[in-house]
Amino acid sequence: MGYPLEILVFGLLSTGPLWAGVQCDINLYKLYVQPATVQEGLCVFIPCNFTYDPNDASSTATLYGYWFKGGCFNSPPLVATNKPGETIAENAQNRFILSEEVEQGNCSLVINDVQNNDDGDYCFRMEKEPKAKWSFKEILKVTVKELEDPVIHFSRNLQANHHVNITCIVPRSCYLKPPRISCKTMAGNFTLRASEEQSSDSHVHSVFDFTPSVADNKQNLTCAVTYGNTSIYKETTVLLNVKYPPQTPVISSELRRPNKTSDKPTSALFAVMGALSVIVVVILIIAVILIFKKYQRKSMIDMESHKTLQTPRSDSSPNDQISQQMVLCTSG
Ligand SMILES: *[C@@H]1O[C@H](CO)[C@@H](O)[C@H](O)[C@H]1NC(C)=O
Ligand SMILES: *[C@@H]1O[C@H](CO)[C@@H](O)[C@H](O)[C@H]1NC(C)=O
Ligand SMILES: *[C@@H]1O[C@H](CO)[C@@H](O)[C@H](O)[C@H]1NC(C)=O
Ligand SMILES: *[C@@H]1O[C@H](CO)[C@@H](O)[C@H](O)[C@H]1NC(C)=O
Ligand SMILES: *[C@@H]1O[C@H](CO)[C@@H](O)[C@H](O)[C@H]1NC(C)=O
Ligand SMILES: *[C@@H]1O[C@H](CO)[C@@H](O)[C@H](O)[C@H]1NC(C)=O
Ligand SMILES: *[C@@H]1O[C@H](CO)[C@@H](O)[C@H](O)[C@H]1NC(C)=O
Repeated sequence: MGYPLEILVFGLLSTGPLWAGVQCDINLYKLYVQPATVQEGLCVFIPCNFTYDPNDASSTATLYGYWFKGGCFNSPPLVATNKPGETIAENAQNRFILSEEVEQGNCSLVINDVQNNDDGDYCFRMEKEPKAKWSFKEILKVTVKELEDPVIHFSRNLQANHHVNITCIVPRSCYLKPPRISCKTMAGNFTLRASEEQSSDSHVHSVFDFTPSVADNKQNLTCAVTYGNTSIYKETTVLLNVKYPPQTPVISSELRRPNKTSDKPTSALFAVMGALSVIVVVILIIAVILIFKKYQRKSMIDMESHKTLQTPRSDSSPNDQISQQMVLCTSG
């Protein structure tokens, strides 16, 4: 590629006061581009436009644009061009895409699947026959950062069976497909409520519905994101702390259980019959005791009526009295 020499010569010619009359107005050669910061693995769209002196160019000539990595001098690697047959640096192939509207002064650049070594300065050059050939002194600076993890936002005061919104925030990429974001726990995937809500230029916000259960306590919640068709995948995991107040159904269902067995008439009948039989047994026992006491008193009266000489000992048992009485009878 002969660009560096051309640039040098053209630069000298165009800036040299001797040739000022021959050359066109260099002030018409301007380029507007902003420094770009992009995360590794993502895609970035870098807006760019430029102007040139139309007097230097034939209206029928094609305008070619070139993006070089590093400076514009000393055979820098070419990363993107609309000129057919040029050799693109190997690691830039199919990743650096120059706008199709270069002819209209559009030098916008897309970088797909950004790599760490894309970090650095870039120089744009235009060529339109016969004399509009210019390397712009305005440099594009690209900074590559490590890809951020998704950020998960939700109320830390989780209560079983109380719905909460889980918001997952991921960096935006310039792929046509938006990033695919999902959130899940052991129990399953969450339903996406809304995406892009309150999203910013740099980030995408997705809101998910989540109703934690007691089983989610001390379990992981994971939000993950994938970009483009690539294997770029990032996830963030948080440990859940689910509180379950006393009014939760787990406890109330236990309280309801006796209510259900009251539903069974047979067991109620058994209970009533059981109570009745206890009362009957108690009455029978009392009756037996009363009858026995009555009989005992009667026998003692009988004994007194025999007018025995021997007075029964006060501590003697009814059995003793009976035996004494029998002795008296046999001896009498
Ligand atoms: C180039 O872009 C800048 C900022 O984006 C804008 O102010 C300017 O008007 C544009 N120039 C042309 C020629 O499109
Ligand atoms: C420049 O080109 C890009 C890609 O082709 C396009 O998205 C963008 O809208 C163009 N910019 C202008 C100012 O036309
Ligand atoms: C969840 O977010 C929606 C809007 O996306 C809002 O209407 C709703 O009140 C939120 N729910 C809770 C529990 O914060
Ligand atoms: C959750 O989502 C993943 C990926 O979308 C899918 O493979 C998996 O079957 C889903 N699981 C459930 C329980 O829906
Ligand atoms: C939660 O995830 C971490 C890794 O992020 C893992 O080490 C831990 O075992 C997980 N805990 C549970 C309860 O699954
Ligand atoms: C995604 O895949 C399609 C078809 O497989 C391809 O045309 C496209 O260039 C790919 N995009 C990226 C960003 O790799
Ligand atoms: C429990 O009992 C109450 C009133 O006695 C009744 O209204 C309710 O339906 C019962 N619940 C069940 C689950 O049987």
